Amino acid sequence: MSKSNLDEKSFTKFLNQTDIESIVTSLANQINRAYEGQQVVLVGVLKGCCIFMADFCRQLKLDVEIDFVRMISQGRSLTEPGTMSIVKDITTDIRGKHVLIVEEIIDSGRALKFLYDRLKASQPASVEVLTFLDKRGKRMVDVPVKYSGRLIEDQFLVGYGLDLEEKCRNLPDIYFLKYPN
Ligand code: IMP
Ligand code: MG
Repeated sequence: MSKSNLDEKSFTKFLNQTDIESIVTSLANQINRAYEGQQVVLVGVLKGCCIFMADFCRQLKLDVEIDFVRMISQGRSLTEPGTMSIVKDITTDIRGKHVLIVEEIIDSGRALKFLYDRLKASQPASVEVLTFLDKRGKRMVDVPVKYSGRLIEDQFLVGYGLDLEEKCRNLPDIYFLKYPN
């Protein structure tokens, strides 16, 4: 499915490619400064991080290793948060290393908290969280997000890795969905 096949009226552009690039550059600059002269392991959270990770890591002037996790939430409903499990784990030995979790968007923070605690248990030198977009007002659990590209309202976004039932991840811009009323 491409955006042209979707109802144009329900999609409103939220961030264009220039906006996205400047957020990515700002985050990369912060990380280049914070970890100057150090090694860092980037842990991307699949699938949504894929496009952002590719842009972000190429702006880092650091010694980086890149790994990925994929998590799923089972038994999730409107009233129950569900149980998190890791369906693809990292294969990097992170003990004693600086780890940076790379997310494209954080909502309730439940998935992230689960991952954060799991990574901490491997005794890395540090674990920090970086996200391209942050729905901070929707946070349900306490998890330290040190680097946020842009704080946003509670709205459903697609494109640049963000999906609508697995479609639209490949859109180069980010759109929000307007619900008909
Ligand atoms: P949570 O923070 O555990 O609630 O889950 C965050 C995950 O939900 C993100 O990694 C995305 O995969 C997904 N998500 C949250 N908000 C959006 C959105 O606006 N569009 C698409 N996916 C989203
Ligand atoms: Mg994600």
